[in-house]
Amino acid sequence: MTAQIVIFTAADVQSYLGDLVTLLQDAVDTGASVGFMPPMSAAEAEDFWHGISADLRAGTRVMLAALVEGVVAGSVQLGLAQRPNSLHRAEVQKLLVHNRYRRRGIGKHLMLALEDAAREYHRTLLVLDTIKGDTAEQLYPKIGYIRVGEIPQFAMIADRSLEATVLFYKILSA
Ligand SMILES: CC(C)(COP(=O)(O)OP(=O)(O)OC[C@H]1O[C@@H](n2cnc3c(N)ncnc32)[C@H](O)[C@@H]1OP(=O)(O)O)[C@@H](O)C(=O)NCCC(=O)NCCS
Repeated sequence: MTAQIVIFTAADVQSYLGDLVTLLQDAVDTGASVGFMPPMSAAEAEDFWHGISADLRAGTRVMLAALVEGVVAGSVQLGLAQRPNSLHRAEVQKLLVHNRYRRRGIGKHLMLALEDAAREYHRTLLVLDTIKGDTAEQLYPKIGYIRVGEIPQFAMIADRSLEATVLFYKILSA
């Protein structure tokens, strides 16, 4: 079972809205720190994806999805910095792989495909942060991201304690 990585437009987000809602709820409700507190309602997840659609229409964001047999198994986004001095930079956001499809290389595949997308937008510096101790902290160094350091008490996690975030960057070769 191989995943097909595709660029998602705003229209694709609407077409696959049910899958995307399930993907985000799965991540939040299994304890991932991706901006929301569990339990996550379908309405809250839908609102999030509608906001993403608006960004895609505005051209300030790029989104990739991993499709397995026509179902969204994962996704990742690139927030394109908009200031005149930052047009070479983008932030990797919301790398999500549904529980059912994890540990099959889909997360890594999405991240590497995102680098190709970044180059198309002339973005040569990628930055991201991830909650300390989450699975993703182990993934990023494996694909060449440099760990910068930690910010303590950055985000509230599922048990309502404040956890540190870890900052990473990667400079893309031409
Ligand atoms: C983080 C996440 C996207 C990884 O997706 P995935 O498809 O399972 O990752 P991959 O199979 O591509 O794994 C790539 C590497 O990451 C590391 N990794 C992934 N899952 C891991 C785990 N559960 N434990 C330890 N290492 C892990 C491994 O080094 C792995 O390489 P290997 O399988 O060759 O050992 C997925 O666990 C997820 O969606 N988590 C919830 C959301 C989240 O936290 N997103 C990150 C926000 S910054």
